Amino acid sequence: MEKNKFYITTPIYYVNDRPHIGHAYTTVIADVLARYNRFKIGSDKVWFLTGTDEHGAKVAQSAEAEGKEPQAFVDEISEEYKNKWEKLNISYDDFIRTTEARHETVVKEILTKLKSAKTPQGKDVIFKDTYEGLYCVGCEAYKKEEDLEDGKCPDHGKAPETLSEENWYFRLSDYTDELKQKIESDEIKILPADKKKEVLSFIAQGLEDIAISRANVDWGIPVPFDKEQTIYVWVDALINYISAIGYPDDEKFKKFWPANVHLLAKDILKFHCIIWPAMLLAAEIEQPKELFVHGYFTLSGKKMSKTLGNVIDPDELVEEYGADAARYLIISQFVFGQDGNVKVDEFPIKYNADLANGIGNLASRVLSMAEKYCEGKVPDKKFDADLDLKKIWQKIDKGFSDYKIFENLKEIWEVIRWSDTYIDETKPWVLGKESKQEELDQIIYNLLEILRHLGWLIKPILPETSDEILKRLGESESDCSYSDAIAVGKIKSGTKVEKGEALFARK
Ligand code: ME8
Ligand code: MG
Repeated sequence: MEKNKFYITTPIYYVNDRPHIGHAYTTVIADVLARYNRFKIGSDKVWFLTGTDEHGAKVAQSAEAEGKEPQAFVDEISEEYKNKWEKLNISYDDFIRTTEARHETVVKEILTKLKSAKTPQGKDVIFKDTYEGLYCVGCEAYKKEEDLEDGKCPDHGKAPETLSEENWYFRLSDYTDELKQKIESDEIKILPADKKKEVLSFIAQGLEDIAISRANVDWGIPVPFDKEQTIYVWVDALINYISAIGYPDDEKFKKFWPANVHLLAKDILKFHCIIWPAMLLAAEIEQPKELFVHGYFTLSGKKMSKTLGNVIDPDELVEEYGADAARYLIISQFVFGQDGNVKVDEFPIKYNADLANGIGNLASRVLSMAEKYCEGKVPDKKFDADLDLKKIWQKIDKGFSDYKIFENLKEIWEVIRWSDTYIDETKPWVLGKESKQEELDQIIYNLLEILRHLGWLIKPILPETSDEILKRLGESESDCSYSDAIAVGKIKSGTKVEKGEALFARK
């Protein structure tokens, strides 16, 4: 396997309803990490996968409620996801749909493989059994009494239905020890630490075997060895992470599997951190390296969800603020990994403070001073500002590999604040009046170099703004490697710079 590569995935979202900013949250963060890695290790070494989960009872019911055929319905909503991601400048490399033939083929192949496999204890991995339980269609999962609040699913606010069926089962219980060992030792690394603990405590309670087929759900992939049943939607969906890259023989699969990270929120923790690894163990496929589990976007304390109907459409944000600002507002809410209330009322305040008056105003101040005091050219000086850019890049790099997205934003915005203070303290306008050209040249040189670094620092987060700032500084991606970009003092003396329009109009 190629070491120097980065394969990142988001969950594939259900098409039971329209995308909202909860989905956008995971997707924008995946995009930021993909863009950062493309910048650092090269586009050909990065694969960013997202997509839609299109089978199962929940989707079939939504189609029916809208009076549509399931296929027409899933085509329509899947397209909506793509449109919204395009508006947010999501640079995915592939978009997988579980109704595609390339996916269905692999799902059947894995099921067939599991059917003939044995567990570590020498039992059949797959067997037939009957089980009666409480099924939440919102979760597409069986629930236990103790998972419910007032008899209802806490995430979906509905009482689950009693289901009793003869189904195919997966002998999850036989993987208890192996899973425990692999998760404890970080061979399967679950982050943040509290989520790893949560998974280990589920395992400690004992794992039960799970149904992996449904007798009464037509909208699904048929079980290859039993035409009367369809494959349980979660088993179908999880396989997307390998079907999309062409398991088992495609070059892409060989190059990119195992995934460097699956991103997800805690609603689907058990599926990703227990069921998926167990399926991979049984099928003798390598494990993903890391799983990062983040918290919920809540509105007034309630999880924002399609099923609850308390959602914000990312399109509204893009229309109001533009793509870059929408991305920024979505990911700058709270520490990645925790839950947080989305403060929609404060969006205009944050937009003005951090974008219009923050990066936008700084770029405009620096570039207009360069025009006014230095004939619109980079002065001939060496960088001597008291700001350790090298160290900042090291922190940013470590930050992105530790999923510290929020902390990285703070670090970058600290550079903006530092620069504003530097201008206020050095007062170039006073030096201008006093015709102290040498000093002016030095200060403007420092500021232009810092602005160049900011241009690169914001690249994964605000891609359009980054391009615009770098263009105004006469720098382009095609002639700049990662090491050039982050080197200190790389801005070329004599380069023409241009002030341009305001980057973010004030609201
Ligand atoms: O679970 N806060 O799809 P889904 C934060 N199809 N993240 C949120 C969120 C919120 N309020 N709402 C949604 C499914 N998300 C399955 C996945 S994967 C093999 C199959 C994000 O449409 C978050 O990433 O319910 C969460 O895990 C995911 O959307 C759930 O999307
Ligand atoms: Mg959900």
